[in-house]
Amino acid sequence: MRRSISLLAAGLVALAPLLAFAQAAPQRQVPDDPAPAAAPGGIQSQNIFDVKPELKRDASSEAGYQDQNNAQRNRVQPGNNSPMWRDVKKGLEGYSSLPKDQAPEAGVLIQQQVQYPGSRLTTAGEAWRQVRNNWIIPYGAALVLISIVALGIFYFARGTLGHHPAEGGGGRRIERFTPFERAAHWTNAIAFVVLGISGLVMAFGKFFLLPVIGGTLFGYFTYILKNLHNFFGPLFVVSLIVVIVTFIKDEFPRKGDLGWFLNIGKVFSRSSTEEPPTHRFNPGEKVVFWIGAFVLGVVVVVSGVVLDKLVPSLIYERGTMQVAHMVHATAAVLMICITGLHIYLGTVGVRGSYTAMRHGYVDEAWAKEHHGYWYEEVKAGKIPAQRSNEPVAVDDAGKVRPA
Ligand code: HEM
Repeated sequence: MRRSISLLAAGLVALAPLLAFAQAAPQRQVPDDPAPAAAPGGIQSQNIFDVKPELKRDASSEAGYQDQNNAQRNRVQPGNNSPMWRDVKKGLEGYSSLPKDQAPEAGVLIQQQVQYPGSRLTTAGEAWRQVRNNWIIPYGAALVLISIVALGIFYFARGTLGHHPAEGGGGRRIERFTPFERAAHWTNAIAFVVLGISGLVMAFGKFFLLPVIGGTLFGYFTYILKNLHNFFGPLFVVSLIVVIVTFIKDEFPRKGDLGWFLNIGKVFSRSSTEEPPTHRFNPGEKVVFWIGAFVLGVVVVVSGVVLDKLVPSLIYERGTMQVAHMVHATAAVLMICITGLHIYLGTVGVRGSYTAMRHGYVDEAWAKEHHGYWYEEVKAGKIPAQRSNEPVAVDDAGKVRPA
């Protein structure tokens, strides 16, 4: 105790000169500048302690700054053309040289006033900028980050769901996905990942990548990603249509779906070895299918095709592209979050799930645990255990692989 008090006292003694200086500093007398000459910009040089840094020789503080024309402004602030742009905005200056018969917006230099949801009533370009910068970018980034963190927390808290591996757990082998279904699914998944990553870098990369890799590399990188985005878009469109058509017949609500939702606790429970029974796909997968793949997928695809200028008869005005962009970006962020959940459950989230889609087969133990009604129908012969003609062989570990 005594030792602490003496340490405290020693500390105060050491700090005393510093405290004394800090107190004295504001009262220090600095002699006035002997000759307060006028600076070139008309600002009187002053005692440095009286000058606020932001006022120092800044042309914008000069009288008449707001009334300067463009030439005057360029003399005091070279490169600042805001008087000219202000006149353009008022329609006093500037014109559009787009040939009248060749461009949908010939002669329109500045778009009309609009109010997009989330913007002020202003010129359309500015309104679009406000929606993008004030809503889509910050809230989109927050949503993606929250989804990733939530899945991470869930994984560390609960771990992988399910008990049986897809194969080697026991019973007959059942073909869960045919080679055609797998090819369609993985083509779509690869296109989605390329589009998702390139889209995220284009939207948010300047905040998290640009400061790390610098402007030159970021420029080349985003240029490549932008082109990848444009070319993988059409591949995604076609493969998404194939995926929707291929799986839709098993995605409609059926008997037992409500019971699955009411007993959803068993899906996450560590002790329960069987989930509430479902048909080929469980209601959770069905919700992800209808919202993530069908509704959002269609919205993202249609708006993306407009942005790619692939709709032949559409008139591509700036307003068309602004609306398409806002719709595309919003739906894409939501789709990334929902499909992120699907990707999580299809990889580390559920034991055996990835193997089923990778190689196509599960055995009875897995089917019984996750899709009870589907298993019963396969057992009863209502659904063939082998639907494709794929020649397969069983390896030493009891896993089915293409022969
Ligand atoms: C890296 C990305 C992806 C991975 C790892 C993945 C993984 C999987 C897995 C493991 C299954 C089988 C689930 C089961 O056996 O019940 C599955 C099913 C399915 N996937 Fe994906 N997937 C991905 C991307 C996508 C995308 C982008 C779409 C479409 C937007 C999609 C649509 C589907 C559909 C429709 C099914 C059928 C069952 C269901 O509706 O969940 N997947 N996926």
